[in-house]
Amino acid sequence: MHFLIDGYVRGVIPDYQMSAFLMAVYFRKMDFEETAIFTDLMLHSGIVVDLSSIPGVKVDKHSTGGVGDKVSLILAPMVAACGVPVPMISGRGLGHTGGTLDKLESIPGFRTNLSLDEYKSAIGEIGVVMIGQTHEIAPADGKMYALRDVTGTVECVPLIAGSIMSKKLAEGIDALVLDVKTGKGAFMQSDEEAIELATTLIQIGNRFGKKTVGFLTDMNQPLGYAIGNWLEVVECIECMKGRIVPDLMEVACTLGGAMVMLGGKARSIQDGIVKCRDVIRNGKAWEKFVALVRRQGGDVSYVEHPEHYPKSTFVADVKCPRSGYIDNIDALEFGFVGIMLGAGRMKIDDIVDPKAGILVTKKNGESVSAGETLAVLYTEHTHVLEQAINRIERAFSIATKPSPSPALIRAFIDEHGVHPWQNRLTL
Ligand code: URA
Repeated sequence: MHFLIDGYVRGVIPDYQMSAFLMAVYFRKMDFEETAIFTDLMLHSGIVVDLSSIPGVKVDKHSTGGVGDKVSLILAPMVAACGVPVPMISGRGLGHTGGTLDKLESIPGFRTNLSLDEYKSAIGEIGVVMIGQTHEIAPADGKMYALRDVTGTVECVPLIAGSIMSKKLAEGIDALVLDVKTGKGAFMQSDEEAIELATTLIQIGNRFGKKTVGFLTDMNQPLGYAIGNWLEVVECIECMKGRIVPDLMEVACTLGGAMVMLGGKARSIQDGIVKCRDVIRNGKAWEKFVALVRRQGGDVSYVEHPEHYPKSTFVADVKCPRSGYIDNIDALEFGFVGIMLGAGRMKIDDIVDPKAGILVTKKNGESVSAGETLAVLYTEHTHVLEQAINRIERAFSIATKPSPSPALIRAFIDEHGVHPWQNRLTL
């Protein structure tokens, strides 16, 4: 494995040999020991950041990705406002899922390409930093991920685990909270697959001496109401100013509670949740977000006055065809239509329109009347609007009777196993 990965990074092993290895792993898997060795070699293919000179237990979060998943934008400043340093290295959106970097870069001037020295000084000064993967962090993963993308070998638990954990372990963290999404809009569409991935990630984290726990959360309908980079930033601003979006804040505060507990600033996850709610209510999370935007070069006037942001040229309502109750909202379809409108990319070099996206106005379980607005679309591409309207209309299923929605937070997972999670939050 060392020969292979080291040779691949140095350019001695060609792509076709690595593709053969990836395809073999895709079909035959790797056992836990092999996955741990694979992760270790990917981790040490680059720099492992040392944040030990910065006081406090440094904690990060990783989400396996979803539609409307903007949790990091609230979570990082909120947890930092509770006194736990959050060094976060995030990715871009690819395929139907969004990426934190694209959302942050929709704020004019915001720099996600800080050098590792700037990264260290930002976390030391304000307790939170959010950047993209640099060439120095796990370069073996950078190269291999691009190859996996074009060889159809992304969806494989040991390869995903090695890829995610090598980057997270390189950031300089002491502990990690995982948000493993399950459902139609997630990488892992069944709870069983999601639990297998979560368990592997958690075991790897703990094997490397980083306390790692996770939550299994629902991704059958989009999280919150906004899909699209700037629209999602605005939704987060609203939440941090106290206008709570229930499902989004339930996920943010639950993950946040675990991060604050792991960071040593709360006795339990519940206590951590209370602390997260407090910093939202007293405005400290919002102040930290503004400090983060300013520290990374963003134009604070736009986050303070989102109404000054440029508007999309074309705005269209999707109307409800008949009365009833929203039974299901196909998150995957929302992800793909979002891309069509310009909010995401199918190829890594596609250009994203920060204003484009979808605002959902009705969520699962709500009653609707024929002719009411289900969603609003924002785009510069007039030629796709009609198709987008039809697809979004069909993405809502409407029933005659209300049916119970699947639990938003399904389970808490740690090194001892999977525990049901029944603590619904009142926010
Ligand atoms: N995200 C990653 O960083 N790597 C994977 O393999 C899948 C998702």
